[in-house]
Amino acid sequence: MTGESAAARRTGGVPPIRAASAAADRTRRLAALDQAHIWHPFTQMQSWMEEHPLIIERAEGCELIDTEGRRYLDGVSSLWVNVHGHGHPAIDAAIVEQLGRLAHSTFLGLTHPPAIELAARLAALAPGRLERVFFSENGAASVEVALKMAYSYWRHRGEERPTFVRLENAYHGDTIGAVSIGGIDRFHETYRPLLFATAAIPSPYCYRCPLGLSYPSCDLACADVLDEVLTREGGRARRGSSPLRTGTSAGWPTSPGATACCWWSTKWPPASGGRGRCSPASTRGSSPTCCAWPRA
Ligand SMILES: Cc1ncc(COP(=O)(O)O)c(C=O)c1O
Repeated sequence: MTGESAAARRTGGVPPIRAASAAADRTRRLAALDQAHIWHPFTQMQSWMEEHPLIIERAEGCELIDTEGRRYLDGVSSLWVNVHGHGHPAIDAAIVEQLGRLAHSTFLGLTHPPAIELAARLAALAPGRLERVFFSENGAASVEVALKMAYSYWRHRGEERPTFVRLENAYHGDTIGAVSIGGIDRFHETYRPLLFATAAIPSPYCYRCPLGLSYPSCDLACADVLDEVLTREGGRARRGSSPLRTGTSAGWPTSPGATACCWWSTKWPPASGGRGRCSPASTRGSSPTCCAWPRA
């Protein structure tokens, strides 16, 4: 139900004209200020200036509510960030309680109980020897951290490995390192002169296989491409023994001279165990959810 019809119902079917026009005036004022002062991400600003911006004031559960009370289904969970819905009582209460105690303290040389407890819980969930957590504030920053960790790992071991393997058509965020390992021309092409060198491999994306093959008859041919790149870049890793793994965001050192970095929504190990398996159901959608790489 729209805000207008809800308001009309409250006033016995007669629209509250003065209130509606006050809200409309405020919306117009805010829209003008937005268009004068805000640069929106991933937005063609010329078209934005020609349209009426949708101004969201509140949200409840799965719905966003604009400045004039109209409701919209938040079908993308505010770009996947709000997966539990807006105004969840337990989350809101925890935030309010924490704000009453400590809003922020630096993590450089200090620590605090919520971070310690969260890190311990994440380490308990993570597989194998993944025992430490490095906190960063968003996806792109975590990719930068992963790239630097992978690079400095080899520096500490006395090896120089500056080349990262990246997936074609990848998106990892908008910072320069994340753009370097990205591959969507529309977003990344302009910045190519600023970016570090990478070696590209096709995505192991069974739903629309970049090699035009089908699983399982493909015999994971996409892994052969990776093998070729690793052999070319440094030569040591072999299909079947490569330490490349998939994860939600990480950089993994592989052969000498190359570092692989992937960001896939992948759970390891795959349900079928052993070498990665893709099922049609797990590969629908825009990002690969199948595992194509053997575990070290
Ligand atoms: C796959 C992927 N990686 C990285 C990012 C960057 O995350 P953030 O916007 O939090 O920097 C995004 C954001 O859309 C993403 O979809």
